[in-house]
Amino acid sequence: MKDLDSLKSEMIQKLMAADSLVDIEQLRIELLGKKGQVQALMKKMRDLSNEERPLFGAKVNEIKNEIDTYISNRVQELMKVEIEKKLASEKIDITLPEKSFKYGNQHPLTIMSEAICELFESMGYAVEEGPEVELDLYNFERANIPENHPAREMQDTFFVDVERLLRTHTTAIQTRVLEEQKDQLPIRVICPGKTYRRDEDDATHSHQFIQIEGLLIDENIKMTDLKGTLEVLAQNLFGEDQRIRLRPSYFQFTEPSVEVDVTCFNCKGSGCNVCKESGWIELLGAGMVHPHVLEMAGIDSEKYSGFAFGIGVDRAVMLKYGVSDIRSLYTNDTRLLAMFDRFD
Ligand code: DAH
Repeated sequence: MKDLDSLKSEMIQKLMAADSLVDIEQLRIELLGKKGQVQALMKKMRDLSNEERPLFGAKVNEIKNEIDTYISNRVQELMKVEIEKKLASEKIDITLPEKSFKYGNQHPLTIMSEAICELFESMGYAVEEGPEVELDLYNFERANIPENHPAREMQDTFFVDVERLLRTHTTAIQTRVLEEQKDQLPIRVICPGKTYRRDEDDATHSHQFIQIEGLLIDENIKMTDLKGTLEVLAQNLFGEDQRIRLRPSYFQFTEPSVEVDVTCFNCKGSGCNVCKESGWIELLGAGMVHPHVLEMAGIDSEKYSGFAFGIGVDRAVMLKYGVSDIRSLYTNDTRLLAMFDRFD
């Protein structure tokens, strides 16, 4: 028994000397493993007398448990030390200046489109979109521009086949909405979208551009409603002091039709080279929706009337930000785009 006690303190001494997880594991195998010292003691029991055996066994068990507890406590301690070491070596210096990021911004055409749609949404209009590859039916026929009508010439476009084309104006969304919502009057929609025409690209023409169509149909809608609405639009786009002017014009889908001018933002109306000394700048086309357009969509034109307008978003951007070449809106030079990162 005495031997056992000294054996135990020998083992503990060894364990106390070990100061790494690897050493401890090695000792665990050496002391408690299948071929370890404790197991060897167990085997000795066979040679003992019946009286000695239980006492010896109990003592060996006690040693085994003690060593076991010692090892697991020591492992915990050493693991803690190791984690602390690791944390200290991987310390993050939060005072270091952050890496600088390059922020992009929305395209000015997107900013302008969203601003216009938001303005009309605030007046109760719903945003509606339509397909860019459009049927001749909605782009021309329903807009009162039948086959072989000379007005088609002005909006020559890219045909996909005899019936389908890249839409030339967002009026195609208007004619679709009229048909779709003919039983849910009144109609109040604002329709943004890409449009296409077969144009030679130059400073003011692009084969692809963006329009926004506005449409309101209800009972007793008059030209004055159109004028008031467009005044709100002009003031929102170019400032509170804006005034608008309606000039007679011609579109197949409106009667009467008007061309809408806004006060020149550069000279405020006194005349300058931007407005060619007139004090006015042309902004958009509009009019009272032609009764035949309503009837073709299935709406009673005796009971209902309304107005529509179509604004060129590219033109609005160019006017607002003083961009002189429409092509610079499509070449995506980030130096230019970054200059127009907000609406105001
Ligand atoms: N669709 C016309 C164009 O692209 C613009 C336009 C004019 C739209 C008058 C309208 C309108 O809704 O009433 O030239």
